[in-house]
Amino acid sequence: MNPLDVQTKEVDENNINFNKMYPKAYNKKTTGPYTKTRVILLNGTEYESVWFLHQFARHTNNDEIKNAIAVVRNQEQQQQKRIACLKPLNESILETTIAYEQLAIDLTATLAQNDSDSNNKQALNFALLEDFDHLYRFSNLMMLDVKGADPSFLVGQFTEITPGRPTLAHYRYPMDNVKRAMNAKKADLYTKLVANIITAAEQQTMNYYMNISQWYKNDLGRKLYAEIGMVEEEHVTQYESLKDPNLTWLQLWVLHEYTEAYLYYSAYL
Ligand SMILES: [Fe+2]
Ligand SMILES: [Fe+2]
Ligand SMILES: [Fe+2]
Repeated sequence: MNPLDVQTKEVDENNINFNKMYPKAYNKKTTGPYTKTRVILLNGTEYESVWFLHQFARHTNNDEIKNAIAVVRNQEQQQQKRIACLKPLNESILETTIAYEQLAIDLTATLAQNDSDSNNKQALNFALLEDFDHLYRFSNLMMLDVKGADPSFLVGQFTEITPGRPTLAHYRYPMDNVKRAMNAKKADLYTKLVANIITAAEQQTMNYYMNISQWYKNDLGRKLYAEIGMVEEEHVTQYESLKDPNLTWLQLWVLHEYTEAYLYYSAYL
């Protein structure tokens, strides 16, 4: 589907009221794990759009562009809130975390399988293993802290929870996370999408751990979030470096919106 061919509404008609912005949350017991991971991915992609547009606004002296950004960003915020609140009140920090790592694994594997760009593929294959290790570590924490917990039920047994390497094996000198950037003029559209999607997803995980680690109920858990949060910083460093740094802010904006449209369209299929 070509989104540029689709008849759309006037931008101002996309604003929604507060009632519509607060959706009915899913039922955590009856909802499939991939619906939960979709919610995380789209929440992260909306978040990335909001932050990208804030950065863009801070780097342009063109008032017309700044005004247009303010209008669109307001709607990205509404969309982010609408998606984020699909998560129910009774889903714990740790249950949500298991879904984050399941998303990291299954999304990374899918993108690696479908991307023909070897540079992207190598980066995906590399970080994939570390996110497997994270799923295992957080599952262990859950079994220690929550009586009768069954992490494999949470992931619907779609994703293997298997003993992995300790996080010690994940730390690198920061420069080593920086990879070769693509040339957007030569790269496939899918390759560009992959870099955008996985950067938004890993950044969402990084932000989540940055914000919730201190709220975990014991020292062991707080330490684990800090430990794994540092690896997510490495993942974001790696994935953002794949993107072409020579695109203009306006080109990047188009790519961001296209990424969102692509994800909503494929989530709907
Ligand atoms: Fe959006
Ligand atoms: Fe992870
Ligand atoms: Fe990660």
